[in-house]
Order: sequence, then C-alpha cells, then structure tokens
Amino acid sequence: WVKEGLAIIVIGASGDLAKKKTYPSLLSLFADHLLPHDLVIYGYARSNITSEDLREKLRPFLDKSGIDSEVIEDFLSRCHYQSGAGYGDISSWKDLNDKIVAFEDDIGTSNGVENFNRLFYFAIPPNVFAETGEAIKTSCMAPKGFSRMIVEKPFGKDLESCKEILARLGQHFDETDLYRIDHYLGKEMVQNLMVMRFGNIWMDNIMNRNNVQCIMLTFKEPFGTEGRGGYFDQYGIIRDIIQNHLLQTMCLLCMECPNKLDGPDAGEKIRDEKVRVLEAMDPVTLDEVFLGQYEGYHDDPTISNKDSNCPTFATVRCFINNPRWAGVPILFKAGKALNERKAEMRIQFKDAPASMHLFGCDVPRNELVIKLQPDETIYMKSNIKTPGFGSAPIQSELEVKYDTRYFAEKTVSNPDAYSRLILDVLRGKSASFVRADELIRAWEIFTPVLHQIDREKVRPHVYKTGTRGPDEADEWINSKSGYKRNDAYVWYDGNIC
Ligand code: BG6
Repeated sequence: WVKEGLAIIVIGASGDLAKKKTYPSLLSLFADHLLPHDLVIYGYARSNITSEDLREKLRPFLDKSGIDSEVIEDFLSRCHYQSGAGYGDISSWKDLNDKIVAFEDDIGTSNGVENFNRLFYFAIPPNVFAETGEAIKTSCMAPKGFSRMIVEKPFGKDLESCKEILARLGQHFDETDLYRIDHYLGKEMVQNLMVMRFGNIWMDNIMNRNNVQCIMLTFKEPFGTEGRGGYFDQYGIIRDIIQNHLLQTMCLLCMECPNKLDGPDAGEKIRDEKVRVLEAMDPVTLDEVFLGQYEGYHDDPTISNKDSNCPTFATVRCFINNPRWAGVPILFKAGKALNERKAEMRIQFKDAPASMHLFGCDVPRNELVIKLQPDETIYMKSNIKTPGFGSAPIQSELEVKYDTRYFAEKTVSNPDAYSRLILDVLRGKSASFVRADELIRAWEIFTPVLHQIDREKVRPHVYKTGTRGPDEADEWINSKSGYKRNDAYVWYDGNIC
C-alpha cells in the first residue's frame, strides 16, 4: 500500500463510462493493492441518488471482473456519492470538499497519514468541463497533496472547439496536472512499442522507406452505435477512432527514438517525438478519404437525423514527410458493425527481389503484424518451404502469442488500459497522455477534411453489417497504397490442426 491518502472523485459517476470502465479499473487497482490503503472514492453527478444506490448500480459491473466478492464489498464500502445541482454548482462542491476533509482528518488522526492527494476523473461531456474545473479550483483542491485531473475525450469536434476546451481547463490548471486520456495508449501492445522499436536492432533497420511498402492501422468492431447514436452521429468514425486512437498509436509506431524512455524527463521527450511525426504530416484532403455507413444505421432510435451521412467506416491515407517515411502510405481503417472485433498495426514490406527467377513464382510479401486485440500477438508473415517433400514457398508466421507465452500461467497480469493509465497518473507519469500541442496538431490534420465532408454532405458507401466493410474499400486501399492482400493466407489461431 502507498503511504499517502487518496480521494478519487469520479465526475459523471452515473454515466456509462464510469460504470463500465472507470470503477472496474479502480477496483482492479484496489484488488492489486495499487491504491493507497487510506482511500475514499466519491462519485459526483446530477442524479439524485444515494451512495447505496450508486453501489447497487456498480455491483453488477464489478462482479464481472471475477474478483473475490469480499474485495468487491471492501472496495464498494469506500465508494460514496455526492449529487450536485449542476457540474459547476459551488455549494455542492463545497459540501463534497467538507466530506473529504472530514475523511482526511479522521484518517490523519488515527493512521498518522499527513499527505492526502486528490484525483478528479472527468467522465463528462466537454461542454461542462469549464464550469466543473472552475468549481473544483475554487472549492475542492487538495490543501496539501496533489490535485490531478484525468480528462476523457472527446477533446472537441474540430480545431476551434478543441482550442476552446484547452483554454477552458487551461485557465484553472497547469498542463502538468492535466492528464488527457486516450485509452489506446494504455493497451499492452501500444505500450510495448517503445521496447519493440528501440530495443531491437532488426526492427530499427527495417522500419523505413527502403523496406516498407505501406503501414495500415486497423480498428474493427462487430457492433454498431447501440444506444450511443446521440453522441456518435455528431462525431462519426474519423473523430471517434482515427483522429485519436489510431493516430496516437501510429505516432508511437513511427516516431524517432526519444533521448529518454524512462525517468522524469521521458514523458516530455516521448511526446516531443510524437509531435514531430504530426508536424511532418499534411492536412488530409478529401481524395485521401473513403467513407462507409452500415445498412440500418438510421434504425437506431438514438439517431434523430434519419438522413444522416455520418460515416461508420472510413479509410484515410496519409504520409509522414520525413527522411524515414517519405512516400510510404500510412492507412487508417476503422469501422463499426463489421465482421469481427480487431485492432492491429500492420507493416507490409516490399516484394522480395527476383522471386520469380529464383522460385518460379512470386512469394507473398512479409508483414509484421502487431495485434492489439483480441489476444495480443506479434507475428511476422514470412515465407518458408512447404514442410515435408514439397519445396514451394508458402507463407507462414514467426510469432509470439501472449496468451500462451505469458498469460496462461496467470503469473503475469494483463491489466486493462484504464487501470494502467490511472496508475500512471497517480505516479505522475505523463508519457501516455495527450499533450495540448499534440492534440492541436492532430486536429489541424483532420479539421479541414471533416468540415468539407460536413459541408458537402459527402455520401458514404453503404455496407452490410457483419461484413469487412464496403465492397469497394479493398480496391481503394490497394490503389492508394500498393497494399497486396494475400487471400491464400489463413492465420493459424492455434486451435486448428
Ligand atoms: C471509444 C470509442 O473511444 O473506443 C468507441 O468512443 C469504441 O466508439 C471504443 O467502441 C473502443 O475501445 P476498445 O478498447 O473496446 O477497442
């Protein structure tokens, strides 16, 4: 247990994100003894419910974790609720502050704890960030320890609204106390990129324009908007996934080596390199975008605009105009209501030279695939001789499957992205959070095309749910990147003999 006391305030505690992600992640940290022993968690929202009501609401989501029920009850006994007339209602925040101070005094006296920190988790829409921040600043900051803010996306809808949000929170808090969360940065495979890229001489040598044909970052989900239509219809898949999760992941995959990967400076050094990647990219233009929408999208009752062009599928091509990557197409592909759940980074290499002369046939291209989910795996699609009497080249894989290699024994834990990131905040580690300048540059790249799509009411290609997306997408990708799909290759999932 950590020696300092901690109050966590989950703002928007009655919302979807809080019960599905925030509280379960806090429970997981609690169960692993990674939160201080002297801990209180306050949910703050407008709903007029009691602490016991909140616990009842949370219990089913916490039970899913498989964590011992005694631990869950211990955790819930530390969870309380404060209802507020509004997010910026000063008297409600003062009331909450009094309760936290009473807890701190009590613990301080009985356990001799002197330092109490506060962690505020903003699981609320951006339009109430400012008033909430202001109320916290005036009436609920930690008198002695740190007060850190974790802020959830969306960080605006475009460059202008993003700047407004940055300014609103920036007037109350220092950049060093603001942790803008992009949960993709907390995924095992994304965190792994630093070691993979800079701890392997082979990786460093092949990751450049001389060897790489194209890079594709993919996000696929097998379900549609499912009640989140009110939000999604305003944002669309580019804002929801590509401009943040995939772009952030790409920055880590493609950036140059920072001077430090560990220690107090690492956070800034790593983010400096990410910004450099973004600065080497031009704003996306409309001819670099392909849009799709699944059939039946408008049937979701939470979508009020029944003629909405909102894209639920998109591919976008970009370039990083620096000496390492110039001319290498970077493709982002994201879609909802597709045939599977999958997120991965795929680096396709150039053709092996003279294969027709040497083997009498073309050999498929090498591909390095880093699979984020499900089932973290790294594999290099490589050509080998057909085993046995045959001699023809076939495509196989050199791979590490985390499930069998590391997680099977249950001695290595695989914490979820939110748990890792919340722990980083408590430890003051900022590397996996999005800095203001990164965010601005990311919006500069995407805002013009997003505005054009809205202005010109660009119609997306329609696709059937449960498919790989619009039929025309593969051809578009191939024409934009030279990406060659090897239909003969079937990934061996370990179960088929
Ligand atoms: C969120 C998006 O940021 O990420 C959702 O708003 C999406 O639309 C989710 O479903 C995907 O997260 P994960 O971790 O399940 O891939």
